[in-house]
Amino acid sequence: MKGIILAGGTGTRLHPATLAINKQLLPIYDKPMIYYPMSVLMLAGIHDILIIASPDYVDNYRRLFEDGSSLGIRVAYMVQPKPEGLPQAFTLGREFIGGDSVMLVLGDNLFFGANMTELLARASSRRRGATIFSYRVDDPSRYGVVDFDESGNAVGLEEKPLHPRSNQAVTGLYVFDGTVADRAASLRPSARGELEITDLIREYLLEGSLAVELMGRGFAWLDTGTHDSLLEAGEFVRTIQKRQGIQIACLEEIAYRQGFITADQARSRGRALAKTAYGQAILTALEQRARPRM
Ligand code: G1P
Repeated sequence: MKGIILAGGTGTRLHPATLAINKQLLPIYDKPMIYYPMSVLMLAGIHDILIIASPDYVDNYRRLFEDGSSLGIRVAYMVQPKPEGLPQAFTLGREFIGGDSVMLVLGDNLFFGANMTELLARASSRRRGATIFSYRVDDPSRYGVVDFDESGNAVGLEEKPLHPRSNQAVTGLYVFDGTVADRAASLRPSARGELEITDLIREYLLEGSLAVELMGRGFAWLDTGTHDSLLEAGEFVRTIQKRQGIQIACLEEIAYRQGFITADQARSRGRALAKTAYGQAILTALEQRARPRM
């Protein structure tokens, strides 16, 4: 399976903070925002990752991850000349995807919760169709919304409905089978002039090949679209990290635990970053090697 992080957009709701920098490079507490979606793809065991970014900032991402080898993965980069909707990820990324299945995560989505790895493994194991992840929110009108019949089967999908039929928002994490690039290429722009991922997902729903995984209580899906939500996301990360003495989205730690990098690689990154809790988390992962994970 391939992975794509879409890190385009203009971040106008975050001006002036994003006048000279891409939103997905802003820090959420102690690391760049894009580390969080990157951690999701790595937890899913994906080695081949494409970052799609706007022309002005693609080099910043390249500086951040280079070719990915320090994390034991391959990272490729592509420019999105103009943001015209999320399904562009699949038309732009067609060659990269190469008919494989693909997990797409939006560069500004932060996920955290127990059983994340199991949830991702379940979605990745489906050979055909698509999987979306829904999450109960108080303000569903801001998102794609999925609704269900009495037996819990998904029956409808709407993009930013005025009168949502449920509180289940569609999060910015999706798994699609190898047909997605062709499907994305035949989509037509919506009333707001963009290709809509909701239209793409609806095709799978109508064919009966859509799976919906509920991210339940105890799961955090955080928004980073406004100054307030950005700060709140940072506070959330800080609170959990301080209380538990763990790191959320420490990429080298994940790479090491997943077996993507060797102990020596992890040690040298940990030492280079040893002045930070982030670097310490890498060194701790090395120490815990022989002990069960707690
Ligand atoms: C997009 C999708 C929407 C989804 C959301 C998740 O909205 O169109 O269906 O719920 O991402 O972050 P946007 O953020 O582009 O308005």
